[in-house]
Amino acid sequence: MEILKEQCGIIPAVNQIEFHPLFNCPELVAYCHARNIAVQAMRLWPGGYLREETFVQIARRKGRTPAQIGLLWSVQQGISVIPKSVQKERIFSNARIFDFSLSTDEMKAIDALNRVQRTANIPQDLWGQYALQ
Ligand SMILES: NC(=O)c1ccc[n+]([C@@H]2O[C@H](COP(=O)([O-])OP(=O)(O)OC[C@H]3O[C@@H](n4cnc5c(N)ncnc54)[C@H](OP(=O)(O)O)[C@@H]3O)[C@@H](O)[C@H]2O)c1
Repeated sequence: MEILKEQCGIIPAVNQIEFHPLFNCPELVAYCHARNIAVQAMRLWPGGYLREETFVQIARRKGRTPAQIGLLWSVQQGISVIPKSVQKERIFSNARIFDFSLSTDEMKAIDALNRVQRTANIPQDLWGQYALQ
């Protein structure tokens, strides 16, 4: 982002990044939010994390699906999500996350799942050199 700003002089309005509980890049999110750059999450469901006990327990407590918990965890910290599904029930269910909330403890429990595990095939030479973790 610093290189982009230096070279182009334009700050992007949106930064679409891999973002999910196994890779939640807090420094990059803070960097963007401090500069009014919207963060948008892609690559929402890698690594089978929806089956993690943390998700299953919170979902059971809230009477929601683990996927809804994952989506709300992003939205509640100001990150937009674009979940894609070809299944009608999932499209409706993925959109039904604005009528409940996660507690601070629940948010922190999900934050703690971060393993800095990037799964999108970003070439090593691109992300290793420049990306904020
Ligand atoms: N900037 C980038 O480099 C980049 C890279 C990738 C994607 N994207 C953006 O992200 C958008 C979506 O990306 P994507 O196609 O990778 O999709 P995604 O939304 O990250 O994941 C889609 C997968 O999640 C499954 N899924 C959807 N809802 C679910 C639920 N409730 N529970 C469990 N699984 C669920 C879908 O299966 P079903 O269809 O069977 O439900 C599908 O297999 C794209 O339109 C693109 O704009 C950007």
